[in-house]
Formats: sequence, C-alpha cells, structure tokens
Amino acid sequence: MTRPLEPAGGLLPPEGRFPMLLLATVWGGLALVAAAWLGGTTASWATGHGWRGPAFGVQFAHALVTEGPGSSWPRVPGAAVTAGVVVAVGGVAGVTVAAVRAGRTNAARPFGLAGARDLAVLLTPASTTRAQALRPSLPGGASGAETGLALGVIAGTPARRRETTTVRASWEDVLLAVMAPRAGKTTSLAVPSVLDAPGAVVATSNKADLWAATAAVRARDTSEAVWTFDPQAITNSPRTWWWNPLTAVDSVEEASRLAGHFVQEVRAEKSARDFWSSAAQDLLTALLLAAATSRRSLHDVYEWLNDPVVPTPGVLLREHGYPAVAASLTGRQHGAPETRDGIYETARTAAQCLRDDRIMEWVTPPAGELPQLDTTAFATSRETLYLLSKDGAGAAGPLVAALTDRVMRDGVRAAERCGGRLDPPLVVVLDEAANVCRISDLPDLYSHLGSRGIVPLTILQSYRQGVRVWGEAGMDTLWSAATVKLLGAGIDDAKLAEDVSRLIGEHDVTIRSFSEGDRRRTTSTSLRRQRILPPEDVRALARGHALLLATGLRVGRLELLPYYQGSRAGDVAAATAEATAATVGGVSR
Ligand SMILES: Nc1ncnc2c1ncn2[C@@H]1O[C@H](COP(=O)(O)OP(=O)(O)O)[C@@H](O)[C@H]1O
Ligand SMILES: [Mg+2]
Repeated sequence: MTRPLEPAGGLLPPEGRFPMLLLATVWGGLALVAAAWLGGTTASWATGHGWRGPAFGVQFAHALVTEGPGSSWPRVPGAAVTAGVVVAVGGVAGVTVAAVRAGRTNAARPFGLAGARDLAVLLTPASTTRAQALRPSLPGGASGAETGLALGVIAGTPARRRETTTVRASWEDVLLAVMAPRAGKTTSLAVPSVLDAPGAVVATSNKADLWAATAAVRARDTSEAVWTFDPQAITNSPRTWWWNPLTAVDSVEEASRLAGHFVQEVRAEKSARDFWSSAAQDLLTALLLAAATSRRSLHDVYEWLNDPVVPTPGVLLREHGYPAVAASLTGRQHGAPETRDGIYETARTAAQCLRDDRIMEWVTPPAGELPQLDTTAFATSRETLYLLSKDGAGAAGPLVAALTDRVMRDGVRAAERCGGRLDPPLVVVLDEAANVCRISDLPDLYSHLGSRGIVPLTILQSYRQGVRVWGEAGMDTLWSAATVKLLGAGIDDAKLAEDVSRLIGEHDVTIRSFSEGDRRRTTSTSLRRQRILPPEDVRALARGHALLLATGLRVGRLELLPYYQGSRAGDVAAATAEATAATVGGVSR
C-alpha cells in the first residue's frame, strides 16, 4: 500500500501527529532537566563551590521533581540554586515558545510566497531611505505615511507589530488594484490613501462613501480647500465653485484630448476606433476649439452640435488662426447628409451630459461670482478634489475624466518646472475608475506619472472591467506599467487566476510515502514541483487579503488594513455619520 503524506511544510495528517507529539515531549523533558542541571551547576560554580553537580541521569531527574533543586546541590545556598535553575529553565522554555510561534507564522503563509526579507524594500527602514531620496524636503527620520502609501501587512504578522511592519508603495510607484465588490477596495485602499496622502489628492467615485469618510478629516488635517465636483448630487454638496474645461484648450491637440473624453463614452461599448467615433471626435475637436479660442462656453458647443449647418464655428476657427480645422469642419458640414447626420448624432450621444443643465452649471460661467478651480496651482498644494459621477449614459463621467486628466497633466508640468518630481507627491485615487474615470490613454500615462511624483491608484472590480474600457491591449499595458499590483478576493477570471498562479511560480515539495508489505513497512521520500499557489487558491483568496505583485519582488500575500481597524477609525466614523446625515437631509428637502 502506498499513501503519500502531506508535502513537508504543510500541517501533519492526524496519524503523523501522535508520534511527533511523543517525540516532542521526550526531547522537551530532557532539555528542561538538562537546563536545570546546567543552572544548578552554574550556581555552584558562581558561589565558589566549583563546577560540581550530581550525576546527570534518571536519579537526578527524580530528585529534582520530588525534592526540588536544592537537594542536588546540598552545599550551595538554596536561593542561588533556585535562581540558577529558574533562569536556565526559563531560557529554554522561552526559546521553545518563540520557535513555535515563528513556525506558526510561517505556516500561515504558504511556503514560497514573499516574507519580510523578500519585501524589505517596501518596509522600514528601506522605505524611509527611498522616500528621502525621492522627497528631498522630508526631514530626517521621517516615517509612516510620509514614506509611502500603505498597502497592508504581510499575512500572519502579529497584531502588535502591524504599525511597524506596514508594507508601503514608494512615491515613484504607480498602482493598480483589482478586487471584487465588497472586498475592501474603498475601506482598505481608497480611504487610507486619501487620509495619508502628504500632498494634494484627487479622488473619484460613483458613490458618496469615499467622500463621506474622508472630506471633513482631510479639511481638518490640511487646513486647505476641499473641492467637491458633484454635478449629479451624489453627496448633495452645494456648488461653490466651477471649472472651465475650455480654459486649457489652446491647441488642436488639447481640443482633441478633451473631445476624446466625450467620445470614450460611445467607444466604451464598441472598444474599437470605428469610423463614427473617430469622425465624432474630429467634429467635437473643431467645435470645442472654436468655442475655446473665441472665449465662448460649452453651451455654444452644445448648440452647434444641434445644428449641423451652422457656419459660426467655421468662421470663428478661421478668425483665430485654425484654417485647416475650419476647412475640415465645413467639409463635413457640406458632405453627404446621411453621413453628416450620423456623425452629428454620434457626437451628440457622446456629449449627452452637456444636455443636462444641472451638470452644465458646474462647467459653464455662473450667473454670480464663484471661484474657479485652478488646476495648475492645485498640483503643488495640499488641497483635495473629489470627483463624483453616476454610471451610465448621460452621466458626468466624461467631465470627471477630463478634470482628472487635466489635473494629472498640469501636475506633470508643475513637476517639470520644479526639478522633475512633485514634493509632496500628488496622489490620484481612481476608485471605480472603469465606471467614472475612463481616461482613454490612462495606460500610457501610467508610465510617466511615477517619475514625476504623481502616484495614481486605479481601482477596478475585475480585470475584464478594465478590458471593456481600455481594450485587451490597453489593459495589458496598464497591467505591465503598474509597478505595484494588488489582487484581492473574488478573482473569478479563470485566465487571470491561472496567469497569476503561474507568475507566483513553483517550488519543490517533499513527498513522503510509506508502503506496507508483508510485515514490513518502508518509507521513502521524493521531490515534486508544485505550484506555490494553484489557481483555485488565487480564486479563493479570503476577503481582507490581497496578493501583492511589485516589480522585481517575489509575490507576497498581504492582509489589508481597513480604516475602521486603524488608529483613525473614530475620526472617520464621526465624519461619515455627519456627512451621511447631511446627504440624507439634503435628499429629503
Ligand atoms: N465601519 C465598518 N466596520 C466594519 N465593516 C465595514 C465598515 N465599513 C465597511 N465595512 C465592510 O467592509 C467590506 C468592504 O467594503 P468596501 O471597502 O466598501 O468594499 P468595495 O471593495 O466594494 O469598495 C464590506 O463588506 C463592508 O460591509
Ligand atoms: Mg468601493
């Protein structure tokens, strides 16, 4: 009969436990008796009675148990013997307990995944050294949140060591997190990142949760402005400022970029750059440029969209030095009516949020005096910008994407002006990015944001959700460009689970087998290559845990650190309660 035992390193099967326990008891007892002998004899030597003691054996053990240690060293003062024995026995017991604990910690993390030594560059003191190199303004000995965004702790870390062993991304990392709904994306990543960010923060969402938990706390911490862009009344924040998307449109390229954010809405479903969406982007580019150069507003753009033969934008473009764009626009206006109407219809669908007056009042000149958001100054401040939009057609998503894109690119420019990188860094938390912040070239932006001190954290519910927005190639680029990736609970994508399992790799496991023949039992061991974490284990990752894939490091398993278990839980809970009450009150009014 051949029956393999569990691979070495795993828990022993029940039939293997009894002999191990017996062995441990015998050796443990022997070690304690030996420690007692050593302790007593040392006491004898220390008190001037020479290195003498009773013969080590069963008799000594018996006397030790029945009469106490004093009887074995009758000439040495009893107190000295007792002290020596207690110290030696205590030492051995302490070392044993520590070893067992360490063994348990190791057993909690599968053999082959990264431990503290593998992830040392993301832990103190290495993270502090790296932060100081990236942020010259950081005072010596800076620690904690100043040195990087907290990702979690290595699974199995004892509670008392969590504060000091937090794994942190550096200020030149660009991050991507993929986790199922309710796996802790907002509570364990978005909220802590916003609260801990040392400089300016941009945070997007389609729900009020992130804003409710952090807006008031950020305002108190930084004493700087908190801007909430909420044209669809998700948080019911009053409109106290406005943003003009046309301010920065000073070239065909900028106009085309802004148009792209609108067109992404219709492209999302088709994923390919088909004729209609490309033509609609060209049309919107011309109209946005015409409005921007003549200091008009998005109201005019929407009006022109509804009148395919209006000559005004063409005239304005020619007047302001864009004859080529004007020619292309008028050519389109005088083309075959079916084609022209198709293009206009696509462009109107792409820009349908401009139809909504509630949305338009946030992005067009207000009737009274309201401050305008200055995206250039924002990057170097400690201000906070929340961007909220509902999902779906007609929502403010294109404007959220446009404003996020604007702030990030102004951040890059500000960084270039001040020596290469922003200090403190600009943290951009894109919670529910695939729903509300579909910046079409986000995957390409990723590669240079990190080197400029801009730290984006894109949070998705699944890999496929990213593919739907950026296409297979785009999502692949985003995945490769992200230097820190966190995969949480609920990876139900067979291909991703398999890919990640393969990335984690294989290790050798020892297989012990025993065979029972006629009255003889033989044991043999063999080596087998086995996945460190098979795909089914990647899929079955528990809530609150995540796999960390950081560039150049072995894959590790982290326990996430939700804000409600952290030191600021009280502050955040109070802020959330207050914000929620205000939101609900606003809705019922
Ligand atoms: N204050 C809290 N105390 C305990 N559990 C909470 C608290 N807030 C949220 N949770 C739980 O944490 C889990 C993760 O929530 P969340 O981070 O919002 O998920 P998502 O990944 O969808 O953003 C949910 O199951 C939620 O019920
Ligand atoms: Mg969430």
